[in-house]
Amino acid sequence: MMGRVRTGVLISGRGSNMGALIEAARRADFPAEIALVLSDKPDAAGIAAARAAGVAAKALDARQFAGKPAFEAAMTGALEAAGVEVVCLAGFMRILSAAFVERWRGRILNIHPSLLPDLKGLHTHERALAEGRAEHGCTVHFVTADLDAGPILAQARVPVLPGDDADRLAGRVLVEEHRIYPQALEAAARAVRAAVNSA
Ligand code: GAR
Repeated sequence: MMGRVRTGVLISGRGSNMGALIEAARRADFPAEIALVLSDKPDAAGIAAARAAGVAAKALDARQFAGKPAFEAAMTGALEAAGVEVVCLAGFMRILSAAFVERWRGRILNIHPSLLPDLKGLHTHERALAEGRAEHGCTVHFVTADLDAGPILAQARVPVLPGDDADRLAGRVLVEEHRIYPQALEAAARAVRAAVNSA
């Protein structure tokens, strides 16, 4: 029998979604395990949080590399050395090249704080409020070379409420992020295992 799907989580900061994935993977019947956390920022709070949870974590300071290809080659090298099969972007605030995305095609997921295809890019909570939207939310999708545009795996909606500011709205969305990202990883990991078993 194949083991659980070894998963790498890429972060740039706080790492609360990473924490939700680590927590979910504690379940004995969860089909993925978090094998490695990688940060592009040496001071990301999520690195210490991962280590405190007993998960290997490594910072690859993007600024120390000659360019994006060298930085991405180092990331792929670290992921491969850890036997990673699936990659989860969790607040990883760097646009990946088409070559990196191709290397992990069908095995790289992202969580984005909007109801895609609406509000791609940055500052989604501020923009949802500025546009007077009644609903907002979050989306887990496969990563493709087009930013925030790959096939959708899971989505959750929240209401925009009177008196909301960006922080309150972000907090309401984040509760849903922490719920749907583990569910989406679970589904993706089961699909990866099914594909491997039928190959
Ligand atoms: C999350 O809200 C995530 O959806 C968002 O950054 C936050 C990271 O929080 N991601 C993006 O905006 C990607 N473009 P976390 O570090 O606590 O998971």
